[in-house]
Amino acid sequence: MIVFTNKSEIKDHISKEKAKGITFGFVPTMGALHNGHMSLVKRALQENNVCVVSVFVNPTQFDNLDDLEKYPRTLEEDIKLLETISKDILVYAPTVEDIYEGNTKAGHFSFDGLEFEMEGKFRKGHFDGVGTIVKRLFEIVTPENAYFGEKDFQQLAIVKKLAQKHGIPVNVKGCEIYRESSGLAYSSRNARLKPDYKAAAPFIFQTLLAAKDKFGTKSANEVTKWVEKQFAKNEFLELEYFIIADITTLKTVKRKSKSKTYRAFVAAYADDIRLIDNIALN
Ligand code: PAF
Repeated sequence: MIVFTNKSEIKDHISKEKAKGITFGFVPTMGALHNGHMSLVKRALQENNVCVVSVFVNPTQFDNLDDLEKYPRTLEEDIKLLETISKDILVYAPTVEDIYEGNTKAGHFSFDGLEFEMEGKFRKGHFDGVGTIVKRLFEIVTPENAYFGEKDFQQLAIVKKLAQKHGIPVNVKGCEIYRESSGLAYSSRNARLKPDYKAAAPFIFQTLLAAKDKFGTKSANEVTKWVEKQFAKNEFLELEYFIIADITTLKTVKRKSKSKTYRAFVAAYADDIRLIDNIALN
């Protein structure tokens, strides 16, 4: 496996390989790789000759300095884990300097309003940071296909919009949420959960499942109120938001329509660790 830290070197390597007809799938990550990431890498390897995995904790998408500093950085373990899967993986683990060239600032993006919903309301500037890094990475890696987990469903919708609006020739593919046996969605942040909070966290998915069930017969507002009550009774989890949204606009649903597709989204704190999850409702 080749590990690149410099954008010119990886660009040069990829363009030579592309000239031979090699296809590239791309899995962008912030490292601390887990089984959820591995499922994306495996899919990329099935659908392309080579998978590029970027490992970069992107400073411009964090609105909280403490979260940025505490974000796990485990490059050596990440490389070892990837080596167990395949030799046809390239790792791109750049420095902040390699990506931002002395100007560590996000650009400004419009994603047709998707950026103002949910995470956009609670994490100011987050999607400008995501847009900035993903656009740069797409330009460096030039993949045919790129793979994003549905756990970050809003991010996935925004990256699709980014590619479409900026004419970036990549197929952005969403991959199902990969869960621990407890139902907790895999996240690099799970490793930081203290035991009591780790034990409490599967409540998020259990509540989403119950919400899905209730959505069959109750209004979105009734389901939302019910979920808020369940979280209020939980001493380990603090709900930031529960929203039922139309999957195309990500706007909160006021009145259900049979012709629309909905998903329920949660963000909750377990101690100081922010967890997100979501579920398809219909
Ligand atoms: O989902 C993530 O890990 C990050 O937001 C991404 C897409 C790698 C951009 O930094």
